[in-house]
Amino acid sequence: MPATTAPLHVAVLAGSTREGRFGPVVTKWLSGHIEQRHDMSADVIDLAETPLPTVFPAFGRQPPPGTEEALALVTPRLAAADAFVFVTPEYNHSYPAPLKNAIDWHNEQWHGKPVAFVSYGGLSGGLRAVEHLRVVMAELNATTIRNTVSFHEAWSRFDESGAVKDPAADTSAKALLDQLAWWGHALRTAKALHSYVA
Ligand SMILES: Cc1cc2nc3c(=O)[nH]c(=O)nc-3n(C[C@H](O)[C@H](O)[C@H](O)COP(=O)(O)O)c2cc1C
Repeated sequence: MPATTAPLHVAVLAGSTREGRFGPVVTKWLSGHIEQRHDMSADVIDLAETPLPTVFPAFGRQPPPGTEEALALVTPRLAAADAFVFVTPEYNHSYPAPLKNAIDWHNEQWHGKPVAFVSYGGLSGGLRAVEHLRVVMAELNATTIRNTVSFHEAWSRFDESGAVKDPAADTSAKALLDQLAWWGHALRTAKALHSYVA
C-alpha cells in the first residue's frame, strides 16, 4: 500500500498524570473509537507512564543524565505519528503542566501534522484547556481540528463499563476522527510531495 493511502498512525496523548485521575476512562473510550476504524491505528502515550523531566538543559548543552532515556520512550512515538489526539482535562482554566512539558520537549515532531482534542473537566468540559492548546500548537506548525468532543462533569457521563451514557458523544467522536483523517491524509500526501517548510 502506498504511504499516502496506508492507515494513519494516530498518537493519543493522555494529558493527566494525577493520582486517581479520571483521564484513562476518556482515553480508553477515544482510543476504542480509533481501533474500530480501518483508516487509523492508535498509539496511546500516557504521560503518567512515561514521565519526562521538567528541567531543560541550557541551549547547546547536553541534558542531565536520564533525560535521553525518558525521551526515548516518547519522542520516537511522536515522530512516527501522522496525527494526534490530545485527551486533556482542564486545570485552572488551562491544561495540565505535564502536557505542556511534553509539548515543549519536542518541536519538529509536531510539524505539519493535525491535532484533535478531546477534553473533559468540571463545568467547563475542558474547552478553555483546548483553546489554550490551539495557540500553542499553532506555534509548533501543527494544524488543529475544528471539531472537539468535550465532557463537562465527565465522571457522570460514562457508565461503569467505560461506555458513554449519551450516544451523541459517540457520534461526535466519529465526526472528530473523520476530520482528523481528512487532514491527516491531506498533510501526509502533501509532505510526501514536498518537505514541510517550518
Ligand atoms: C488542579 C485542578 C484544577 C482544576 N481546575 C478546573 C477548572 O478550571 N475548570 C474545570 O472545569 N475543572 C477543573 N478541575 C476539575 C478537573 O477538570 C476534573 O477533576 C478532571 O476530572 C481532572 O482530570 P483528571 O481526573 O484526569 O486529572 C480542576 C482539577 C484540578 C485537580
